Amino acid sequence: MSRLHVVSGKGGTGKTTVAAALALALAADGRRTLLVEVEGRQGIAQLFETEPLPYEERKIATAPGGGEVHALAIDPEFALLDYLHMFYKLGSAGRALKKLGAIDFATTIAPGLRDVLLTGKACEAVRRKGKDGRFAYDSVIMDAPPTGRITRFLNVNHEVAGLARTGPIHNQAQAVMRVLKSPQTAVHMVTLLEEMPVQETADGIAELRSDGLPTGAVIVNMVRPAILDHEAVDAAANGRRTAVAKALSQAGLGGARRGGLAERLVDPLLEQAREHAERVALERTQRSELAGLDLPLHELELLTDGVDLAGLYRLAADLRKQWPS
Ligand SMILES: Nc1ncnc2c1ncn2[C@@H]1O[C@H](COP(=O)(O)OP(=O)(O)OP(=O)(O)O)[C@@H](O)[C@H]1O
Ligand SMILES: [Mg+2]
Repeated sequence: MSRLHVVSGKGGTGKTTVAAALALALAADGRRTLLVEVEGRQGIAQLFETEPLPYEERKIATAPGGGEVHALAIDPEFALLDYLHMFYKLGSAGRALKKLGAIDFATTIAPGLRDVLLTGKACEAVRRKGKDGRFAYDSVIMDAPPTGRITRFLNVNHEVAGLARTGPIHNQAQAVMRVLKSPQTAVHMVTLLEEMPVQETADGIAELRSDGLPTGAVIVNMVRPAILDHEAVDAAANGRRTAVAKALSQAGLGGARRGGLAERLVDPLLEQAREHAERVALERTQRSELAGLDLPLHELELLTDGVDLAGLYRLAADLRKQWPS
């Protein structure tokens, strides 16, 4: 069973929202989860309607049944300082640095330093145990970088381990990769039922698979309700004018004769229905693309009033029903 849930997906599809809902869902019934934000934008604090999070773990929500959601927003500057600090503490790390050549190290690793710390921090939280010998958190959920950057992000320790061939940095990097490549980790993708995000999802999954990173579920977010059944959609798509006019007049909206109310309503209604039918057809195509990925699919509805705290709990409850326990 995975304990580190990495939530990625195309920008704006709902990664932060879904990660938060998942953290709540997995905390239900007395469990403890840690929600980690890595982009430093305080999205989690906004979502939970709390003060901006400091760079430390703190409880931000109570789950149904008494569970706890803790959160950690990793600040990039603090992260860098933390990492440098770790370097100075690691005695032989200095020697490793010398061997590598400072320039090599800086150009190859510096852009990824932040990522090294972020993934390292998340893995540390996954492995951490309390005095009672039990895991500090039942699950750790990461609001991760978008699809285009996720594989490199998760693989950054692989590069580090290759550069520092022995010593504490090497060992630390390898320990992180061991967690990330194990079944303890699952990388989930959030998508919408639209061509671009679905394509990105497919590409992202292919990339993760070719790099040996563990894929999890696909979460289809902002799903709009189906207003018409299959038959009605077909009728609308084929513009069955007479049938619609007749149905309207049977519904008491005036006679179907020329100039009557039903007659005047027919065309605008058919136009709307046609647009709806088109959307449903497009969504059907995207759904079958997603089914082809051979991963568990979950769906979350579009909350028409946006996601406030109550909405977030609703999404969490919905996710919990669908999530394998
Ligand atoms: N199920 C939903 N129903 C309605 N609105 C939603 C839903 N999920 C997310 N949203 C809204 O969509 C917007 C984007 O969501 P969110 O910030 O979670 O996406 P993101 O993928 O994290 O974005 P970014 O790439 O900028 O980090 C937000 O305004 C959020 O409230
Ligand atoms: Mg986000």
